[in-house]
Amino acid sequence: MQPSLQFKQLTAFHAVASCQSFSEATRMTGLSQPTLSRLIKQLEEELETELLDRYHRPLQLTEAGKFFFHNTQAMLTEFETVINITKRIATPKKSLSIGFVPSVLYGLLPDIISRLKNTLPNLEIQLKDISSYQQVNALKSGDIDVGFGRFTIAPRQPLDEATSQRQTIHSKHHVKQILLRHERYVVALPKSHPLANTPNQHLRQHAESHLILYHQTYLPLSTASSSIPQANSIREPLLHLFSRQGIQPYSTSTVSDLQVALGLVAAGEGITLVPDSLKSVRTEQIAYQRLIHENATSPIYLNILEDLTHSALPTLLDAIYEIYEEKGITYRRYQP
Ligand code: BEZ
Repeated sequence: MQPSLQFKQLTAFHAVASCQSFSEATRMTGLSQPTLSRLIKQLEEELETELLDRYHRPLQLTEAGKFFFHNTQAMLTEFETVINITKRIATPKKSLSIGFVPSVLYGLLPDIISRLKNTLPNLEIQLKDISSYQQVNALKSGDIDVGFGRFTIAPRQPLDEATSQRQTIHSKHHVKQILLRHERYVVALPKSHPLANTPNQHLRQHAESHLILYHQTYLPLSTASSSIPQANSIREPLLHLFSRQGIQPYSTSTVSDLQVALGLVAAGEGITLVPDSLKSVRTEQIAYQRLIHENATSPIYLNILEDLTHSALPTLLDAIYEIYEEKGITYRRYQP
């Protein structure tokens, strides 16, 4: 068998199987209908089995076809990713596309970008608002070159407390996560709240509060680590923090994002927890207070591709560390 031929056969089969139509697969692949038919026929001959049930409309897969489709999908995606990354290694990019989760925009991101621009004035920079998990596919497809996120992405093995403190996590998805720092959560509460002026609060003091949740991304089961077994199963990040203290808030509601959550806090509808860098938002209506729990933190990761380092990465890391030094922020320097 010729390996290049196999790949073409496989992509032709997947296009037809996922579109359930030869004519749509023609549009998707740019291959003519006779070519698609020929490639799939060759594949069927190699496998000595029929994959398509050609007598039904819309077109269906045979039992063997379904098995083959489901069990080759991940392999095909992986192969396409490898081809994509290989081509990009061969042609390094001159611009830098940065993905970020909205919460880092309120913090140091603007300072970091302006410092990077000062150091590399000819570097063209694009910024893209994109969730932590979507950053994986965006890195693989080349939509972004680096990403700032707040969640651990699909670890290889379950994380224990010690593992979550390690600075880099290699996932099987070609993505490397560099832990920049842990940012503390603060309580955001309406100025009219009885605890609005109380510093160093315990989450227990909010057991009777209405808690506003806003995360779209939940903790992977394995990172929801805690010495309290029950907390392990709670994957909503704020509820997870409460459950680690053995507390279940009196009532909760969920909104679409962090801005909406803070809007509701400002309107006196409840309280929420946000990373410390958000504490300058809506300060006329919202008080922000520290929590006593040192482990009530949100990590900030720099997500990159494991095998494709953008030439601007060292300068980007220098810009971040310089700003941390200037602001007296605790961090751990990444040692490649
Ligand atoms: C930070 O707050 O540590 C941070 C924000 C944006 C990008 C990188 C780091």
